Amino acid sequence: MDAGLATKKARVSNGSHHLKDGQPIYVEEIEDTEGSTTLLFSLKEKVGALAEALSIFELHGVNLHHIESRPSAEDAEEYQFFVSCDNQRGGLKEASIALKEKCKDLTILSRNPGEQKNEVPWFPRKISDLDRFANQILSYGSELDSDHPGFTDTVYRSRRKEFADIAFHYKHGQPIPRVEYTQDEIKTWGTIFNELTKLYPTHACREYNHIFPLLVDNCGFRDDNIPQLEDISQFLKDCTGFTLRPVAGLLSSRDFLAGLAFRVFHSTQYIRHGSKPMYTPEPDVCHELLGHVPLFADPAFAQFSQEIGLASLGAPEEYIQKLATLYWFTVEFGICRQEGQLKAYGAGLLSSFGELQYCISDKPEKREFDPIITAEQQYPITEYQPVYFISNSFEQAKDKLRTYASTIPRPFSVRYNPYTQNVEVINNKKQIMNLTKIIRCDLGLLEEALEKCKNISSH
Ligand SMILES: [Fe+2]
Repeated sequence: MDAGLATKKARVSNGSHHLKDGQPIYVEEIEDTEGSTTLLFSLKEKVGALAEALSIFELHGVNLHHIESRPSAEDAEEYQFFVSCDNQRGGLKEASIALKEKCKDLTILSRNPGEQKNEVPWFPRKISDLDRFANQILSYGSELDSDHPGFTDTVYRSRRKEFADIAFHYKHGQPIPRVEYTQDEIKTWGTIFNELTKLYPTHACREYNHIFPLLVDNCGFRDDNIPQLEDISQFLKDCTGFTLRPVAGLLSSRDFLAGLAFRVFHSTQYIRHGSKPMYTPEPDVCHELLGHVPLFADPAFAQFSQEIGLASLGAPEEYIQKLATLYWFTVEFGICRQEGQLKAYGAGLLSSFGELQYCISDKPEKREFDPIITAEQQYPITEYQPVYFISNSFEQAKDKLRTYASTIPRPFSVRYNPYTQNVEVINNKKQIMNLTKIIRCDLGLLEEALEKCKNISSH
């Protein structure tokens, strides 16, 4: 199984059972309640501050469903509050305005499409905004399901918590903390590495096989070494501007895709349980490093991935699910045609010894990648895919995706500015004029370069 992002909706978790040993509470996988809105805000720790804030809801007739708190990760004197309330009765808008004056960092986590008929969901505008949702994960790293191979292993669970804590405290711009992996962890990695590298020359796409030796040389991709996220992030930055960011668990689809808009890939750092090296019920460092990382060093693939991310910013919820499906059938499970043969480029395939062989065999159904059709395709997440979608090239897939993205109802266009690492929202004449100037400048450069090439070839 593989998932770089979660596809289910998230709501704030219910109850103090998630407050373990004084550790923070996280968002868990629960269906949204019709007509509810979730707010996140911080208050200075002082007696009566919460009661004062809550009185605002009362004053405006807003009915609260649920409330929970945790110490703020950013300021030891602050507490963060998650409040779930009814948005169908009372003056939620007025209450939010009044609340803003009492606290800092009021965020409205509107995950119910019914709430968003007339409003554009919040999205990050600058790369450091990714800090705002990095910890809104669907489950914390050490909270394993009962059927997880490491569920009864206390050593494994405490190790998972160490990794989760690294991700939880990470902020944009910091180096990713290095991890000293244990001999057992390295052994698990080595088993997977040796099995998969036998298949890559015949089963992986050309771009993957071009980049993989560079990762061996530059980032220590070997069977006796688990490469460090920081080294890989630096390498990718030099190649395509992509960077990695450690994540403690599964993000919502909206948040995960938003990272791609900034060429940021949220990566796990822990490794699967050693008892089942060829199986993981969730993404782990083997999946990220062997599956995803190599292709993020390819310019066309990086561009394709970013396009999905940019399309997701401020998109209505139904389109987030469609884009998550497109991500699934390309970045996770995509196959392509090269020199008349089928090759894998999806990370879920490149990190799975069994499915990598299965996907290009005659057994599963294959269809041409067409975003309108692919976005509607249902898929299982715990078994091999019954259908795969084929692209002829990343360039072609990107063009198809861009055409599809233009149909997403959004009252603006977005453009990523790599100099400022900001997303620019283009929705007025002045911004269009500015964009025209930039393009004119690039066209001038193109003209000059063509002229020089012509002169060179005529000599
Ligand atoms: Fe993934």
